[in-house]
Amino acid sequence: MDRRYAICFTVLMLMMVASSTGYQLGPQMTSDEYKKRFGASYSPFSAALETLQKQIDYTFNRIHLLRRAVTHASFSEENNRALSILGISIVETSVSFQYLQNDIDISSDTLNHEIQQVCNVESSCAVEGMRLGLHKVIRVSHNTNSTTPAIVCGAFRAIFGAIAIDSGKPDVAGKVFWNVHTRKGRLTAEL
Ligand SMILES: *[C@@H]1O[C@H](CO)[C@@H](O)[C@H](O)[C@H]1NC(C)=O
Repeated sequence: MDRRYAICFTVLMLMMVASSTGYQLGPQMTSDEYKKRFGASYSPFSAALETLQKQIDYTFNRIHLLRRAVTHASFSEENNRALSILGISIVETSVSFQYLQNDIDISSDTLNHEIQQVCNVESSCAVEGMRLGLHKVIRVSHNTNSTTPAIVCGAFRAIFGAIAIDSGKPDVAGKVFWNVHTRKGRLTAEL
């Protein structure tokens, strides 16, 4: 009895192995099959998020935070609004820190001026966001223009807010911002 049971079991196992191997060696998977097996992670959007992480030289532990950072309020209730508020203070802190570290005698007027320059939506924030190609990544509703400076800038700031939450360290986010900010012009050329 036991031997027969063992033989049956072995045959069954061999059949299972054969069928699973057959599946793997089978004809090319369609993209639908690919998605079924590997989940929704295979999409142009996730590929864009991979590229974005390389550009900013930071890899998210919780990728949903980056996804949220590039999601405009017109697209979903799970959007980047609150993250972009945190992003503003990270950018401001980072600029103040860098300027004061360089020159402890910097005047408050000069420092305020520098902060305003970096935080200007049209001339700085949106420009840096466009340089990262954010206007092509941001998720907006179909009747919203993702190239609008306020939308690009909101996502740009939200990314640093998301990094602070992801790493648990606003300081890490400040450093990533400063690297992106001072690497001007090189980002897209590197791709
Ligand atoms: C989207 O916004 C940008 C920047 O404001 C503008 O240049 C462009 O013409 C707009 N595109 C459309 C289709 O409205």
